[in-house]
Formats: sequence, C-alpha cells, structure tokens
Amino acid sequence: MVVKKAEFIISNTNPALCPKDGRPEYAFTGRSNVGKSSLINMLTGVKGLALASSTPGKTQLINHFLINNSWYIVDLPGYGFAQRGKKGREIIREIIDSYINQREELTCLFVLLDCRHEPQKIDMEFITYLGENGIPFAIIFTKTDKISGSKVNENVANYKAKLLESWEELPPIFFTSTLKKKGGEEVLEYIEEINKLVVID
Ligand code: GTP
Ligand code: MG
Repeated sequence: MVVKKAEFIISNTNPALCPKDGRPEYAFTGRSNVGKSSLINMLTGVKGLALASSTPGKTQLINHFLINNSWYIVDLPGYGFAQRGKKGREIIREIIDSYINQREELTCLFVLLDCRHEPQKIDMEFITYLGENGIPFAIIFTKTDKISGSKVNENVANYKAKLLESWEELPPIFFTSTLKKKGGEEVLEYIEEINKLVVID
C-alpha cells in the first residue's frame, strides 16, 4: 500500500471525543520508548508526524492520523514508564484501556515489543488482557537494527514459547527497524488486507 496522504486529526484522552466517521483504525501501543511514534512516522513517510523522543513518556494522548482519507493510524501513550510514578502510570493505563475497550472502530491493535529483551512481565500481562477482552492484535518487534539477526531470532523464539504457554495460536508477527527503514511494507500490506474486508467509503 502506498500512503499518499497522512494528516493529523485530533489528540485527546477521551475515546468518546475520537473521530465519529466510523472509519477503521489501527492503533500502536507498547511500553514507553519502544518506538511507536517513530514507526508511525516511517509507515506514513512523514518525519515528525507523530512526536518521537529519546525521553520515554513522550506520547500522553490518543492521537488520530487519517491515512489516504480512508482509515486511521492511532498513536497511543506507552504503558509502564517507571518515572511517571504509580498514579501517572495508572492514568495512562486507564486511557489505553478505555480506548481499546470502547472503540468499535479499533480493527487491529499493534503491540510493539523491543526485540532486544527477554519476554517482559508487563507485556505478557498486557497481551493476556487483550485476549481476555477479545481485542484483535498483532505483534511488532522493533529496533531490529540494534542487535544481530541471530539474537533477534533467539529473543523472538523465547517470546513465542512464552505466548504458546497460554495461546493456542500465535498472532501475526512483524519486525521493524526505523533506522534501516525495514519492515514497514509488511505492516502496511497487512493493514491493506484487513481494509479490504471492512467497508470503507
Ligand atoms: P513514548 O511515546 O514515550 O511511549 O515512546 P514511543 O514508543 O513512541 O517511542 P519513540 O518512537 O519516541 O522512540 C523512542 C526512541 O527509540 C527514540 O530515540 C527513537 O529514535 C528510538 N527508536 C525507535 N525505533 C527505533 C529503531 O527501529 N531503531 C533504532 N535504532 N532506534 C529506534
Ligand atoms: Mg510516542
């Protein structure tokens, strides 16, 4: 899929104030600093569309970007940022949870995982929560340029084994590097395939 147009529409903390045109949306979530905003910029080809930062906790709102006048990319805040404090983390988690549970337009939630790490408790709990709430999701391993291919494979194998302890099937899995501009096409193709199945005017 070619992204011809990507425009920022609205930011807020309340799912009830999100766009009401019924277009399908694809949201990106994951721990703070995992690379959500950078990935959105790579997918859209618009540097600076989503605010990325080396300081974790940059995105604190639900941000809607309209793509090709037909579907939305949604940049969500990251969960689990330690320096935000317990109360701060709860507020952000509440924003994420209310968005994913209330938005009927949410067509697929991309959960981003940093490929450098062993399976993290907070991510596994979040994925379990998605299963319990029937949220359709896919996984994207980010920052693949930061370690060798064999180390990526090793870490991903650990994640898969962990997932298969509680899931019968694995979700779709993607790999991206915004530094090397890799993996974006596959994510966009996946979105395009789903868009063909949902009505878009
Ligand atoms: P919050 O909004 O704070 O939750 O963070 P985020 O998940 O949106 O992360 P963001 O895109 O702001 O990126 C965090 C840092 O990781 C930035 O310094 C990015 O440049 C860097 N980064 C993101 N993706 C990649 C990648 O694929 N490769 C490398 N090398 N760095 C990356
Ligand atoms: Mg961000």
